[in-house]
Amino acid sequence: MDERIAVIGAGYVGLTTAACLAELGYLVTCADVDAVRVGELRSGRLPIHEDGLGELVQTHLADGRLEFEVGAVHAVVDADVVFICVPTPELPDGSADMSFVHSVATEIGPRLKSGAIVINKSTVPVGSLRQVERSLARSDVAVVSNPEFLREGSAVADFLQPDRIVIGADDPEIAARVAALYRPLAAPILLTDPVSAETIKYAANSFLATKLSFVNALAAVCEAVGADVDEVMLGIGYDSRIGHEFLRPGPGWGGSCFPKDTGALIRIAEAAGYDFSLLRGVVDVNREQFERVVDKITRALGGSLDGARIAALGLAFKAGTDDVRHSPALEVIDRLVARGATVRAYDPVVTVSPSADVVLADDLYAACVDADVVVVLTEWDEFRLVDLDRLAGVVARRAVVDTRNVFDRAALQRLDFTFDGVGRR
Ligand code: UDX
Repeated sequence: MDERIAVIGAGYVGLTTAACLAELGYLVTCADVDAVRVGELRSGRLPIHEDGLGELVQTHLADGRLEFEVGAVHAVVDADVVFICVPTPELPDGSADMSFVHSVATEIGPRLKSGAIVINKSTVPVGSLRQVERSLARSDVAVVSNPEFLREGSAVADFLQPDRIVIGADDPEIAARVAALYRPLAAPILLTDPVSAETIKYAANSFLATKLSFVNALAAVCEAVGADVDEVMLGIGYDSRIGHEFLRPGPGWGGSCFPKDTGALIRIAEAAGYDFSLLRGVVDVNREQFERVVDKITRALGGSLDGARIAALGLAFKAGTDDVRHSPALEVIDRLVARGATVRAYDPVVTVSPSADVVLADDLYAACVDADVVVVLTEWDEFRLVDLDRLAGVVARRAVVDTRNVFDRAALQRLDFTFDGVGRR
C-alpha cells in the first residue's frame, strides 16, 4: 500500500476510483479543475448521487487517506501512479473528444516523477494510449490502459467487486505493478496489449447496447404476434449462454456511456475501413424505440398530441441515478413537445428541470393532475407503490403508457384505465 496515487478528474469515474482506492488503503489525491467542486468535496459534499460514495469520501477524508486538490499539477508531483479520469464527450460526428485527456497529459508531463505510471481510465478511442505517450513526452514514464466498467448507481460496488480488471500494457513488469494495485479485490485480471484493452471497453458497452436493442425490437415482435416479452426473455435467459441480465425492454437505452461509446465504435471502425452495419442498426433500433413510444402515447390520446397534457413519471436515464444525460425519458419528452403536447414531470431524485419544456411537479400525483395520459419513463420502485385510486381521481383521462412495465396492468384495467406497456399482449 505504499504507492501514492493521483486521480485526475472528480466526476463519476474519478471520484469513485479515488474513494475506492483510499478504501483499499492507498494514499490518494484527487484533482479537479473546478475549484468550487474541490471546495465542496473537501467538506465531504458530493456533486453527484452515487450509492455509498459519500460515506467512503467522508471516511477517508477523516482518516487522511483521501485529499482533494485544484488542478492536476499539485496532485501528480509525488505520485507513483496517476489515473486519468477526465471526460471524453461525444463530438457532433460521434467521435470522442480527447481534448481534456490531452491537456491533462501535456500539463502533467513535465511534473511527473521518473518511473511513474500513467493510467488511462477514461474511455478513449482505440490507439489513444500512443497519443497520451506523445503528449506526456516522457520516455521514463509508462502509460497503461485500464478501462472502467462502472455502472451509475452501483459504481462503488462495481469497483470493489468487479467482474474483471483489464490492463493493457506493453511492458509485463509495468502491467504486474498495476495488477498489484488491485490485488486486494481478488478479481480476475486480464493482462493484454493496449489496443485490445481500449477495444474491450467499447466492445462491452456496444454488446450490451446490442442486447437491449434486440430486446426492444423483440418487444415489437411480441406485440405484433401476441406474445409476452417478459415470458420470452425469461425463456431465453435460462440459456446460460444468454443469461438473465440486461433483458428488460424499455423506452430505449441511454445514459452517459452507451450512446457515446456505440457512436465512437462506429466511427473507430469506419476510420479503420470497416462499416459496422450491425452496430449502426443497433443505434437505429434505439432511435426507432423512442418513436415507437411516442406512437404509443399518440394512440393512447386518440390520435393527436396537439394540446395534450402529459404526465411523465421519471426523467433519469435509469432508476438509482439523478443523471439525465441522453436519458430516453428526455428523448421521448422532446418529441412529444415538438408535436404540441405539454409535459409535467415527476422524478424522485431529479429536482431541477432538465429542459425549459418540462415543468417539474413535487410528487407523482401533482404531476398527474388533469393529465390526458400518464407515461412511465424510468423504472423507479416508488412508482410500483402508486395508489391507483388516488391516481384515477386526479387525471383528466384514464390512460397509461408504461414503457418500463412497472404498473400493475390488471389493477389499472379494473379502474377503467386504458393501458399500453412494452412487448405485452
Ligand atoms: C453502462 C455499463 O453497464 C457500464 O458497465 C459502463 O461502464 C458504463 O455504461 P450505465 O450507463 O450506468 O452503465 O447504465 P446501465 O445500467 O448499463 O443501463 C444503460 C441503459 O440501458 C439505461 O438507459 C437503462 O435503462 C437501459 N437498460 C438496462 C434497459 O433498458 N434494460 C435493461 O435490462 C438494462
